[in-house]
Amino acid sequence: MVPAYPAALTAPPGIIRQAVLARRSLLYGWTEDCYDASDFEFRLLRRQVCVFNAPASVKSVLVTENSLFERKGAMMRRSLEPLLGDGLFISDGDTWQRRRPLVADLVHKARLPLFGPAMTNGVTELVDHWLTLCAGEEVDLLPTMATLTAGIIARAVFGVSLAGEALREIVEGFAAYQAQVDSLNLLYFLGNPEGRSLHGNRKLAETVGRIRSVIEDVIASHRRGEGDEDSMIAAMLRRGHFEGEAGLRNEAVTLFMAGHETTATTLTWALYILGKAPWAVEALRQEVDSISGGQPVEVGDVPNLLLTRAIIDETMRLYPPVPILPRQALRDARIGSLDVEQDALVLVCPWLLHRSPDLWDDPMAFRPERFLGEARPQPYSYLPFSAGPRLCPGMSFGINEAVICLATIMGRMHLELRPGFVATPVCRLSLRPRHPILAQVRPR
Ligand code: HEM
Repeated sequence: MVPAYPAALTAPPGIIRQAVLARRSLLYGWTEDCYDASDFEFRLLRRQVCVFNAPASVKSVLVTENSLFERKGAMMRRSLEPLLGDGLFISDGDTWQRRRPLVADLVHKARLPLFGPAMTNGVTELVDHWLTLCAGEEVDLLPTMATLTAGIIARAVFGVSLAGEALREIVEGFAAYQAQVDSLNLLYFLGNPEGRSLHGNRKLAETVGRIRSVIEDVIASHRRGEGDEDSMIAAMLRRGHFEGEAGLRNEAVTLFMAGHETTATTLTWALYILGKAPWAVEALRQEVDSISGGQPVEVGDVPNLLLTRAIIDETMRLYPPVPILPRQALRDARIGSLDVEQDALVLVCPWLLHRSPDLWDDPMAFRPERFLGEARPQPYSYLPFSAGPRLCPGMSFGINEAVICLATIMGRMHLELRPGFVATPVCRLSLRPRHPILAQVRPR
């Protein structure tokens, strides 16, 4: 089974077409050669763009030579800075060095048992709600999964007792923010390394103000002793060292943002693929029935849900939630086969690596068995969570959440896509379907 993907171009696009395609989606400008496991460069007007596709070069960019690059080139920093401030996702240098261990501790896999109930309860509530719908009612998968994962991360970050109130306002605020921010700042490609600043934008400032004040209220409630002991905010307050109220708030916003969008897209694409692969649904259900025996799926079940995990892994290969990892060169450097110029846009693209015929057999096909048993991808060919010092600290959280949610949904429900529907993946901040993926839901 080969899930949908945009066809590669037959010839390199001209400059204007490249800019237009890039603005529509960063997945559309690639020719077939770009999927080879070798490095290449091109220019977008004055800017040098280096794409590292050979696993050895990927290792240099992300791991061994990572200090030569800023994590977030101007493009993404400009888009996210008004909201995340100096939050981990976009910070570099000393701030990142100080905060990374603090944030990594909050979401460390040793703390998963604290957050497991939020995952199990969140998805159980969703399935219970679906059971109240008329049989065959359609749901739009991406917003439904985004509400599910936002609810889970809100319970984890803000605590169960405060999550409900804060959640609606924050979810609305995030949607407004995303709509207002151009995910691709064209000025950046046109040669200005700093891109266009969004700081003066009044509407955006109001949206950011709303989100921040909700989070500040949650922090204040915790300070008054009204929050849950197990929440990440409570742990942040106990630990200290977040450099005041703004540091704490910025990391809470960052965790909320980084911690739900990617899992939502993973689940959406997994449900889409399963809608086209009845054999995989059958096998997955057998596994879920044998492990959970009709009881709610819990964090302790995840190590035994090997096929469910392999389906999630294979989904993230075909549809990596973060399809492009951008960096900006701090100075001239020689990496792999390329001379990188200062300020060059440096790209490691899971989208290309994960579909390279040099690195995978039958790369476009859905084959979860690639991740079963002893089978493992070769190093630096599979990067849904990045690699090196900026490896996603929420990896265990995200994988456990995705496995619990997928096992619960497929164990209890039957989902059916519209006949003949073919999704089109587009790259925004994460990899999303261009059009709603609608599925009828029925009890299994
Ligand atoms: C399927 C789920 C997820 C995927 C695929 C994913 C993917 C990623 C990727 C690719 C990066 C690094 C980007 C880069 O190197 O430029 C990243 C960073 C990050 N992620 Fe995740 N993530 C997921 C879930 C989560 C969750 C659940 C949390 C929090 C609970 C989280 C928190 C973060 C944070 C704070 C960073 C910034 C780390 C740093 O820069 O040091 N992520 N994630």
